[in-house]
Amino acid sequence: MNILVTGGTGYIGSHTCVSLLEAGHSVVIADNLSNSRKETVNKIKEITNRDVLFHEIDVSNKDQVKKLFSNNKFDGVIHFAGYKAVGESLDLPISYYSNNLFSTIFLAEACINYGVRRFVFSSSATVYGDNQAPFKETMKLLPTTNPYGSTKEMSERILTDVAKANSSFSVSILRYFNPIGAHQSGLIGEIPKGHPNNLMPYITNVAKGKFDKLFVFGNDYSTLDGTGVRDYIHVMDLAEGHVKALESIDSGVEVFNLGTGQGTSVLQLLKAFEQANGLEIPYEIVERRPGDIATCFADTTKAEKHLCWKAKRGIFEMCRDAWRFETQYTD
Ligand code: NAD
Ligand code: UFG
Repeated sequence: MNILVTGGTGYIGSHTCVSLLEAGHSVVIADNLSNSRKETVNKIKEITNRDVLFHEIDVSNKDQVKKLFSNNKFDGVIHFAGYKAVGESLDLPISYYSNNLFSTIFLAEACINYGVRRFVFSSSATVYGDNQAPFKETMKLLPTTNPYGSTKEMSERILTDVAKANSSFSVSILRYFNPIGAHQSGLIGEIPKGHPNNLMPYITNVAKGKFDKLFVFGNDYSTLDGTGVRDYIHVMDLAEGHVKALESIDSGVEVFNLGTGQGTSVLQLLKAFEQANGLEIPYEIVERRPGDIATCFADTTKAEKHLCWKAKRGIFEMCRDAWRFETQYTD
């Protein structure tokens, strides 16, 4: 299939392009490079030895989306493009709502107008809010505490309504848990813009000497060691999940959790990183971060059954690959 990958030079998008190409699909990337680099296109080509088309466009711009669809014939769309920083979304709600919602609306509209049936959407476990883990796709979604989370919940609703009204449009909504790690080549990985907010990029930056220590946000949660528990998933497992989701799209809308089903605490991840890479990471326990929940991990039964997909890479591999990328990458 010829697949449009929006946000394809970004972290998860670039790894998914590799998996798509390795599975024999063709890839057209549309990215405005607001949080990524054009150089990533060459890295994807180098890893896969395949060609990739790249368009530097803004997919929240209706005219640019229309032009893209009128000049290309797509069999499916994987829509990663969007802003993703929870804290920033509280300061810039209009940017978040307009970028994340207009892109989803214009891409869905173009799919209907140009007869593109398959649509895969990047959602997030954040839509479960503070439900009781493990999170199941059938759970009632709880209100999110930030505009970023709201854009995911709203996009899910928009796509569901569009698919209901158009039987020729089918959607796979993927709720990601916590992707970390990098491609084993060390050529592509996560390059956070500005100050990293997420745990793994912060740890690798401490390891690199950019920061003195990691601040652990709270050790008084009701978890095994008091620190927050998350379902960390290797980004290549996540990428492979997208290929399965795209290929298995049938009709209507299906929602899938993409996680490992295993919870890991902040201190457990820290220790795994130290052991996997033979490093010591200084840390300090500080106050809880507002908006954080204690425990978040997936029930992965549905993805395993319907997509015949299961994450296979463990925490050590995630930590090794994240660090390999960080040591190879230069600004
Ligand atoms: P990323 O920032 O690395 O990638 C997003 C890409 O989209 C970037 O290359 C950026 O330049 C591009 N982009 C943004 N707005 C655009 C626009 N209007 N037009 C064209 N390109 C645009 O982020 P990521 O971590 O790869 O996340 C991909 C998707 O997955 C996002 O939708 C994100 O919300 C979602 N997600 C990510 C996580 C995570 O932890 N990384 C968790 C859950 C969901
Ligand atoms: N943490 C620290 N110190 C840090 C950063 C994080 O202790 O410097 C802790 C957090 O308190 C939390 C855990 O590490 O317990 C993971 O935090 P992240 O910021 O890495 O990830 P979150 O689970 O908070 O959020 C991420 C994405 C969201 C997405 C969600 C889906 O940032 O966009 O996963 O589960 F919605």
